[in-house]
Amino acid sequence: MLLKTDLRIVVSTYAGLEELLAQELRQLGGRDVEIHTRAVSCVGDKGFMYKVNFCSRLALRVMVSLTSFSIKDGDDLYREVAAIDWTEFMKVSQTFAVRCTLNSELFDTNLYPALKVKDAIADSFRSNGGKRPDVEKENPDLEVMVFINRDRCTLLLNSSGESLHRRGYRAEVDKAPLSEVLAAGIIMMSGWEPHKPLIDFMCGSGTIPIEAALMAANIPPGAFRKQFAFEKWPDFDEALYKTIREKQIERINDNPVRIYGNEINRFVLEKAEENVKNAGVEDMVQLSLGDFNDFERPSGNGVVIINPPYGEKLQPEDLDALYKSIGDRFKKNYAGYKAWIFTGSPEGAKAIGLRSNRKIKLFNGPIECRLLGYELFEGSKKDMYKDNNE
Ligand SMILES: C[S@@+](CC[C@H](N)C(=O)[O-])C[C@H]1O[C@@H](n2cnc3c(N)ncnc32)[C@H](O)[C@@H]1O
Repeated sequence: MLLKTDLRIVVSTYAGLEELLAQELRQLGGRDVEIHTRAVSCVGDKGFMYKVNFCSRLALRVMVSLTSFSIKDGDDLYREVAAIDWTEFMKVSQTFAVRCTLNSELFDTNLYPALKVKDAIADSFRSNGGKRPDVEKENPDLEVMVFINRDRCTLLLNSSGESLHRRGYRAEVDKAPLSEVLAAGIIMMSGWEPHKPLIDFMCGSGTIPIEAALMAANIPPGAFRKQFAFEKWPDFDEALYKTIREKQIERINDNPVRIYGNEINRFVLEKAEENVKNAGVEDMVQLSLGDFNDFERPSGNGVVIINPPYGEKLQPEDLDALYKSIGDRFKKNYAGYKAWIFTGSPEGAKAIGLRSNRKIKLFNGPIECRLLGYELFEGSKKDMYKDNNE
């Protein structure tokens, strides 16, 4: 079934990044692109599926749709799944896992349908030759995703494996850093162009500067990944995957860029240094230690993108003071820049004291956040329009 040329591919992402992902999939060659909630679907062949896994900056999981059918109960589900020839997708010596998302009143929890699908897959092997494959929750060879929407059940195979936001360049950190996929989406929304400076003066572990560097140099995010799930599938076309990889690696450029990361905490900055090195972008990202108030902006106009603390550990008055000083710094030192603040703190956003001209709703995990955009005009706004008219 996987060998057929036209695969229906469903790519998951974060809420708010669907439009950008749709554009990315079209650029990569996807056809019949459709936007859903936290996902985009399209049609493409096996090579396209490999390419999306290797190149997409916005995908979390690339799933291949296997089949779709109507069910009335768990027995229907079992029958439909057991009728599939699972030896096409895995060997009995391999492991598998089933993940179920439920949007239906047919079942009380997603555990029961997941169990039915698991039993059906295992039993289909047993009826063929006696042995059952083992279930492995953490790192299975085959992950079957079951989506039940009312009476409609869709089975998909996860071709990525572990979520693609784990690019592989980041060392472990104790604090939760920004997801690489979210950082990439924010940079794309910012309108930054690689010939302009990009500054993150509160860079933490360096995710924003690193993702910007990868984008500017065309370094595919998959370049750091040890393995994708599709490499363990029986129909894996190694030669095709190698050709796709090599073609993308050929596109990497050495164009000069000016990307800056600054961080106040020495320990955190060390992590950023390690990550920048792991990503191989030391020559593109300049890191510095210090308070952002002391950070010297580079010459020329560019873009600032920051993700300040949200305040879990900050007292309300400290949070207000921090965000106010960010606003003051923007006003005094970044005239001519475009500035973006990604924050989960509505109070902090208010304390900035500048009027944002863009407000984009995004989520960082379960936390509702805003990406706030500011045009920091040189001179007054009135002056700017005067200049434009003249
Ligand atoms: C939410 S974290 C940024 C996470 C980052 N985007 C990442 O992916 O790891 C905010 C960072 O701002 C830093 N920070 C707080 N106050 C600062 C200041 N006055 N100057 C520079 N950095 C500061 C914190 O140490 C923290 O690492």
